[in-house]
Amino acid sequence: MIAAALAETHRLAFDGKGWPAADFERYLGDTTILIHGTDTCFAVFRLAEPEAEILTLATHPDAQGHGHAGSMLRGALDALARAKIETVFIEVADDNAAALALYARAGFAQFSTRCNYYANGASAICMKAVLSPASGA
Ligand SMILES: CC(C)(COP(=O)(O)OP(=O)(O)OC[C@H]1O[C@@H](n2cnc3c(N)ncnc32)[C@H](O)[C@@H]1OP(=O)(O)O)[C@@H](O)C(=O)NCCC(=O)NCCS
Repeated sequence: MIAAALAETHRLAFDGKGWPAADFERYLGDTTILIHGTDTCFAVFRLAEPEAEILTLATHPDAQGHGHAGSMLRGALDALARAKIETVFIEVADDNAAALALYARAGFAQFSTRCNYYANGASAICMKAVLSPASGA
């Protein structure tokens, strides 16, 4: 993976408000971070065994709507289960229908809400997935 390409996908997916390439460069060299996927569809996880947190996840706008994030996330959860991660957490804005559908389909369930969490007033839906070491997800 190339930090500049990850940053470009992130910038376009988040309407110009993505993270700088330097952040991705640092994450690529950080053993507590897993970046799973490709330059055009990826998720960034912070690992703290037996837990992990999704820091961000994005599909390049040109590639959205074709199931890429769904299959990438399933593969990531399989890899995390093999790495002894038991629970994965994510916070999603309650107005982000695509992300909410993505996480629900991948087995995440809501456990809490943080009201007015984002700058635009949206609330955060706190979700978690409990991974099964036997099945891999
Ligand atoms: C969320 C995102 C990663 C999904 O990527 P994608 O590759 O298009 O996702 P998929 O094609 O695998 O679709 C995932 C699910 O979302 C649904 N979906 C996709 N776009 C949608 C939309 N605009 N509205 C509602 N649901 C949508 C799909 O139907 C699918 O659900 P299903 O499996 O039940 O059919 C992408 O929209 C994105 O990068 N968004 C901007 C960044 C972002 O919000 N990241 C998540 C932050 S928590």
